[in-house]
Amino acid sequence: MTTALVTGATSGIGHAFCRELAERGNNLVLVARHRARLENVSDELRARHSIKVEILAADLSKRTQLRRVADRVADRDRPIDLLVNNAGFTTRKSFLKGDLAEEEAMLDVLCRAVLVLSHAGALSMKERGRGHIINVSSVAGFLPTSTYGAAKGWVTAFTETLAHELAGSGVSATALCPGFTHTEFHERADLDMSRLPKAMWLEADGLVRDCLDDVRAGKVISVPGVQYKMIAGAAQIVPNGLLRAVSGRVNSLRRPKR
Ligand SMILES: NC(=O)c1ccc[n+]([C@@H]2O[C@H](COP(=O)([O-])OP(=O)(O)OC[C@H]3O[C@@H](n4cnc5c(N)ncnc54)[C@H](OP(=O)(O)O)[C@@H]3O)[C@@H](O)[C@H]2O)c1
Repeated sequence: MTTALVTGATSGIGHAFCRELAERGNNLVLVARHRARLENVSDELRARHSIKVEILAADLSKRTQLRRVADRVADRDRPIDLLVNNAGFTTRKSFLKGDLAEEEAMLDVLCRAVLVLSHAGALSMKERGRGHIINVSSVAGFLPTSTYGAAKGWVTAFTETLAHELAGSGVSATALCPGFTHTEFHERADLDMSRLPKAMWLEADGLVRDCLDDVRAGKVISVPGVQYKMIAGAAQIVPNGLLRAVSGRVNSLRRPKR
C-alpha cells in the first residue's frame, strides 16, 4: 500500500484521482482550502475503502500554507509515493480586463505551488529510489489562448524538464493535459460554456484512469481523448500565426456569464 497526496482533492479531477486511488488501495493525503469539504471527501472515502485518509487545509497561493504542504510531502517518516499537483482555477476575464491580483494568485497556484511541491516530492522520492509525480496541466498549454494557457504551458515544459532530470532515478514525472472537462472549474470562474460542442467535453473519471495507465507506461505527457490528442499533435506542426488565429477562436467559446 502506498500513499498519494492530491491537491485540489475536493472537486472535479482531483476528487476523481482520490476515488480511483482509494479504489486501488492507496492511502491518501487530501489538500484544498475548505476544511468542511475535505472532511466530507475523507468520510466518503473511508466509508467505502479500508484506507487511511489525512486532510490538510491549505491555500496554495499563500507561501506559509504552501510551505506546510511541502513539509508534509518531504516528511521522511511518512513518505508520499505519488504526488498529484492538481489544484487550479482560471480567471474570469482576459489579462487586460481583469484583476492583476487574481492573475498573480492564479500563477502562484498553477505554477509556484507545482514548483515547490515537485521540488519537495522529487528530492524525497529520489532518496528512496521510487515515486511518481503527476502535474495536472492542460491542452491549453499547447495553444496561445490566455494567461491561464501560458501558465499551463509552463507546467508542461517544467514537467518535461523534471522528467529528464529524474531519468534513471526510479522516480517519474508526467504532465496530464486534459481538454474541457465536466467539473466545477468553469462554474467557479463564472464562464458560459454553452457554445462548446458536446464532443469536446471529457469526464474526469475516464481521464484519470487513462492518466494512471500512461504513468504506468512511463509517458511524460498524457493527453486524454482522441480529439485532444489530435489538437496537441497539430499544435506541434502548424505555423504559429495559424495556431494563434485558431486559439483565439477556441478561446471565444468560453465567455464570462456577465
Ligand atoms: N475542467 C477543465 O476543463 C480542465 C481542463 C484542463 C485542465 N484542468 C486543470 O485541472 C485541475 C483541476 O481542475 P478541476 O477542473 O477539477 O476544477 P475544480 O472542480 O474547480 O476543482 C478545483 C480544486 O482545486 C482546489 N483549489 C482551488 N484553488 C485552490 C487554492 N488556492 N489552494 C488549494 N486548493 C485550491 C479546490 O478546492 P477549494 O476551493 O476548497 O480550495 C478544488 O478542490 C486544474 O489544475 C485545472 O487547471 C481543468
